[in-house]
This record gives sequence, C-alpha cells and structure tokens, in this order.
Amino acid sequence: MGISYDASVPSPADKLVVERLRVRKGKNAILNGVSLTVRGGEILALIGPAGSGKTTFLRCLNRLIDLEPELAVEGRLRLDGLDVYGEGVDVPSLRRRIGMVFAVPNPLPMSIRDNLTLGLRILGAAAAGPPSERIERSLKAAYLWDEVKDRLDDSALKLSGGQQQRLCLARSLMAGPELLLLDEPCSGLDPISTAKIEEALQGLKSRISVVLVTNNVKQASRCSDRTAFLLMGDLVEMGETGLIFTNPQNRRTADYVSGRFG
Ligand SMILES: Nc1ncnc2c1ncn2[C@@H]1O[C@H](COP(=O)(O)OP(=O)(O)OP(=O)(O)O)[C@@H](O)[C@H]1O
Ligand SMILES: [Mg+2]
Repeated sequence: MGISYDASVPSPADKLVVERLRVRKGKNAILNGVSLTVRGGEILALIGPAGSGKTTFLRCLNRLIDLEPELAVEGRLRLDGLDVYGEGVDVPSLRRRIGMVFAVPNPLPMSIRDNLTLGLRILGAAAAGPPSERIERSLKAAYLWDEVKDRLDDSALKLSGGQQQRLCLARSLMAGPELLLLDEPCSGLDPISTAKIEEALQGLKSRISVVLVTNNVKQASRCSDRTAFLLMGDLVEMGETGLIFTNPQNRRTADYVSGRFG
C-alpha cells in the first residue's frame, strides 16, 4: 500500500513538517511513509483504529522512539526547520519544545509542586520567571489551579484521575513547549474531566500546536481544526475537520468516522 494522501507541501504557517515517515521492525512496516504538516496554532486530531500506528507516530515526533532500537525510522521531520533526526540534535532540548501527555495519568509519588518542577530541573530549562509563576500559569492553563492552589504540597496521588491528568498536562506545559502531543489523554476520564481537558486545549492552541490522538471520533470532531485518519500505517485522508466528518473523500474514512468499522 502506498501513500494515499500527501499533505507535505510546507507553508510558512507550518510548525512541523513530516515527510515520508516510515517505521518498521525488520520487514514489517508500522508506518508506511506518512507525510503531513502540523500548522502553528492548530489542534490536529489523529484518529484510526487500534494498531494503526497513532502512538508510534507521536513517539517519532519527540524521538521517544529512540528507546526502541529494534524499530527503524526513515523519512524527514522538521520542527520550524530543525531536522529532528539530524546529526547533533540535542534530544533533551527537542523534548522541551515538544511536550507529551499519555493515556494513563502518570504523576510521580511526590507533591503537586514537585511533579511540576522536577521535569524542569531534569531538563535544565532556562527559567522564564520564578517557578511559582510558572506553576500558577501552567496550572491555570490546564484548568486545575482553583482546585489545587491551596494544596500544592500535598501528594499528587491524592488527586482524582481527572485531576491527575490535568496535572500531567500542566507538567507538560512547564517547559514552555511549542508543540504538544497527547495520546488518548481522555480515554479513562469521565465527561466532565474530558470537557476540562478539551477546554484547556482550546485555550492553549493560540500559542501551542497540538496533535491529539483520540480513539473517540466525537472528540476529534468537537475540538480539532484538522483531522488525519490513519489506517494500518497509512495516512488515508487528512483535511479540515468539518470536511472530514461531513464530506470525506475516501470510503474508508467515511466508514470509520460514521462508526461502521473500527
Ligand atoms: N516496538 C515494537 N515492536 C514491534 N511492533 C510494534 C512496536 N511498537 C508498535 N508495534 C506495532 O505497531 C502497530 C501500531 O502500534 P501503535 O501502538 O502505534 O498503534 P495505535 O494506533 O496507537 O493503537 P491503539 O489505538 O491501540 O493505541 C501495532 O501493530 C503494534 O503491535
Ligand atoms: Mg496508541
């Protein structure tokens, strides 16, 4: 199967340009040459059935995939012109620019405050203002500030699941990322917690580009600007979210977004 959609023609508005991204283990392809762009200030939803390569795609963007040396990565990724796989790229500084939130909230067993500042200390991010200001800004952006402002020294593990996930979102914002990757961030959350995360993303997108992997097509249609549909490692179709949901060009996209398969 070849590429059936090519959105790689870059424009100045693009934050990230992905060209012919191919990931394989031996002869087995996991991604078959995916080309797409992520624009500045947009939420791009990435949808597709289990095993289609969504998580693998995200892990390539911030080079978490480096942790799996059995996987071969080919193609070209550029973040504001920086060749992500170029020689001499400083991976910690790349990961300061590209934040990530996972499906299962993963706060560390320490205070809320320490959860927020630990990553900064490890990454050695240059301080933009005192930590307390950053903490407040990140928690406000993650819609969590009012709920935790009087208990920053309590254990993060005492928070509810939905609060823990918003803490993880706040943590990912501490280093001031330009691109935020979210891998099914609401899959274990109730509708109210989900709505808070979605609102937070709307507030963030003016300054941060977001790639939102979701197994919930309704979530993609509610909160993304563009949607990409991945199937078995192929990018089948990508476009403005309204069009993908009302007038998809590909039969497989139509079937998936209408719930006829997947
Ligand atoms: N390290 C690996 N070694 C071998 N195969 C892998 C590895 N990582 C991922 N895969 C395979 O690649 C395919 C895509 O996996 P991936 O986790 O990216 O899918 P996904 O779209 O995120 O699925 P889900 O919706 O279930 O999270 C799967 O068939 C998976 O088994
Ligand atoms: Mg996944």
